Amino acid sequence: MKPRIYLDNSATTRIDDEVLDAMLPYLRERFGNASSIHAFGQEARAAVEDARQAVADLVGAEPRELVFTSGGTESDNMALWGVLRSGYRPGNHIITSRIEHPAVLATCKALEEAGAEVTFLPVDSSGRVDPERVTAAVNERTILITIMHANNETGVIQPIEEIGRIARERGILLHTDAVQSVGKIPVHVGRLGVDLLSLSGHKFHGPKGAGALFVRSGVKLKPLLTGGSHERRRRAGTENVAALVGLSAASQLAQRRLPAMTSRVAVLRDRLQERIRNGIPGVRINGSVEHRLPIVTNMAFDALEGEAAVIALDLAGVAVSTGSACSSGSLEPSHVLMGMGLRAEVVQGSLRFSLSHHSAAEEIDGAAQIVVDTVTRLRGLARRG
Ligand SMILES: Cc1ncc(COP(=O)(O)O)c(C=O)c1O
Repeated sequence: MKPRIYLDNSATTRIDDEVLDAMLPYLRERFGNASSIHAFGQEARAAVEDARQAVADLVGAEPRELVFTSGGTESDNMALWGVLRSGYRPGNHIITSRIEHPAVLATCKALEEAGAEVTFLPVDSSGRVDPERVTAAVNERTILITIMHANNETGVIQPIEEIGRIARERGILLHTDAVQSVGKIPVHVGRLGVDLLSLSGHKFHGPKGAGALFVRSGVKLKPLLTGGSHERRRRAGTENVAALVGLSAASQLAQRRLPAMTSRVAVLRDRLQERIRNGIPGVRINGSVEHRLPIVTNMAFDALEGEAAVIALDLAGVAVSTGSACSSGSLEPSHVLMGMGLRAEVVQGSLRFSLSHHSAAEEIDGAAQIVVDTVTRLRGLARRG
């Protein structure tokens, strides 16, 4: 069988062996409920609190500022609903961008239905939000600004520090969805100046179903899930101890690997880009090259149907994705690329390649050649057809 090359690490990553090894005892013999008083419970409690410390260290927070969740989607929901319902100051206006992940965008739509007022800011052609537009959008009813740290389709990094200053000067809370950036580049809540930050373990070699929301000390949120007094009454439900142990191990590995991983993978990413661009004409990079995650490149191919290319590449052994989301059987062009002002046919011909610290140079060279051959063949077929 041909070896398969995985270049879809923005969707999810392979769990690291060290992570799985750390988790297994908590699925077998250390199965206690972290709220129980006996030794089984205490063992589980200790593991949960160690995990809190590890995740806190990764993002420069205090352990008590982290609430464990089931992942990025729940963290985003907890932040947005939690602030709206907290009533920390009068108002119901939220500022976000048009290129957020659906975990934020759809939640903002639901908040609108619940009576909130939401401003969806545009981005420029490089995929970035202009902080001046944030300033202009603020009004006396604004209670929250939520802008993602790095985009999941293009990897473009937003000017969160500047937006943080704007929010702080006005006493408005700032949330950032850092699901794509944590573990890939250094992320420090103090330096970013955020009050709330979402992260998810499966994006950096941890297990699926484990994430966290950073809530700056003093910020009051109304909980999304009510029930027991878990997570200091901020998120009810018996802790998923094994998954949190996995999140902990992944956080420690990520911290140890940064920044060497960042520079090594960026070199491979650039090599992939260059080999493809040298191999075929009509290829451009979507979004800012300067402000971008090191692991991802989103490329537009002239005269290519992206979905057909994903299928053909999969058959040839390379896993990538398009910029577009496939919803209810209809192919909708990517809201992120459309939001950057790209023409529909450019969006339809765009592919996302995302690497990880597991990516090897030979794989990248092999994948580049397969992409060149596949795109050449598909363009030839389209011309004949
Ligand atoms: C930017 C961003 N936010 C949120 C999510 C959702 O995270 P999860 O899959 O952990 O629910 C994703 C996952 O693709 C993402 O890329």
